[in-house]
Amino acid sequence: MSTSLVTEQQSILDTIVLDGNVPSKAIWPIAGGKGGTGKSTLTANIGVGLSLLGYKVILVDCDLGGADLHLFFDQIAPARSLSHFLTKETATLKEVLLPTPSENLKLVCGGNEMIGLANLPYMVKKKLLRHIMALDADFVLIDLGAGTTFNTLDFFTLSDDGLIVCTPEPHARVDAYGFIKNTVYRKLQRQFAKNALVKSTIEEFARKSGRKSGRISELLELLTQTDPHAGEVAKALMANYRPRLILNRVRYKRQIEEAHRFVALVKEYLSTEMDYVGYVRSDMKILDACERRRPLMIDNPKAPAARDIYTILMQGLQIPDRLHRFEADNSRKMAEVAKMEAKYW
Ligand SMILES: Nc1ncnc2c1ncn2[C@@H]1O[C@H](COP(=O)(O)OP(=O)(O)O)[C@@H](O)[C@H]1O
Ligand SMILES: [Mg+2]
Repeated sequence: MSTSLVTEQQSILDTIVLDGNVPSKAIWPIAGGKGGTGKSTLTANIGVGLSLLGYKVILVDCDLGGADLHLFFDQIAPARSLSHFLTKETATLKEVLLPTPSENLKLVCGGNEMIGLANLPYMVKKKLLRHIMALDADFVLIDLGAGTTFNTLDFFTLSDDGLIVCTPEPHARVDAYGFIKNTVYRKLQRQFAKNALVKSTIEEFARKSGRKSGRISELLELLTQTDPHAGEVAKALMANYRPRLILNRVRYKRQIEEAHRFVALVKEYLSTEMDYVGYVRSDMKILDACERRRPLMIDNPKAPAARDIYTILMQGLQIPDRLHRFEADNSRKMAEVAKMEAKYW
């Protein structure tokens, strides 16, 4: 394994900048550790929100074990899916893109026949990443599965600003913590894949971390003692890693305080600076929209959870309103635009 996915992505980005003909795009993998926290729901709704703000958005369902993102778009048996690309039935990822009623929003569906692909060979992952980078979009949102398989970890860490969706339950926080810890180790292992000494130091530390406090800051110090240059590289890698946290299914204010404590804990033990970008209330309207196989942002844009998603986009994630259709912080305006858009759905 010569280059890491991160390095690979950087070199692709460099080529794009050099070519100067492909607009830069944001890639947001969406994960969470635990199943059922709302990853697919938020992928669909944040995608719709970004398209309402005037961006070209592509949603990719990369939950290879439980692909269901297409259900938000009334696609029961999608004609084309990611599995067609992964099994080489199509030459490009672009060929499996499906339209949605919103012109700016397109979809790469997952396929239920993908369970066997749950551990993709590294070369296939690199190829998929290359094709994702070549898509014509401002934002590519990647819906990832639960758990910490290499697929999920690799796709999450290919971008430094992925989104983690967590719910207020302690179980969800434990799983999110475990997920972030795994991404940190995966990032470091990939970075130093060719440095045998550093690699074995990381592996040894990971093995013993159950017995000691296992703070990543200790590992970073250890790496600096082992190889000062590697220590600097590792610290820079960690400084750039800023996953964002969304708290979903919130019922009480105190749950938001708990999320802030979680962010502090992750910083202390995992040396990972997470940006808390906001919460989405627990809202039955999400379930109603689900039954109608539409994203909430289209189905009921005035619902409390839809307003929360709007707030996350405009305030938490600071996405500029490209079309200048909304006054700042005016979720009512956005709901009106969404209502107009809903006529096409
Ligand atoms: N904010 C919310 N309020 C109420 N129900 C929600 C909310 N977010 C998600 N759900 C529901 O929770 C279930 C799991 O959501 P889903 O997006 O499929 O999770 P994941 O993709 O993380 O497995 C779905 O039935 C969805 O409708
Ligand atoms: Mg899902």
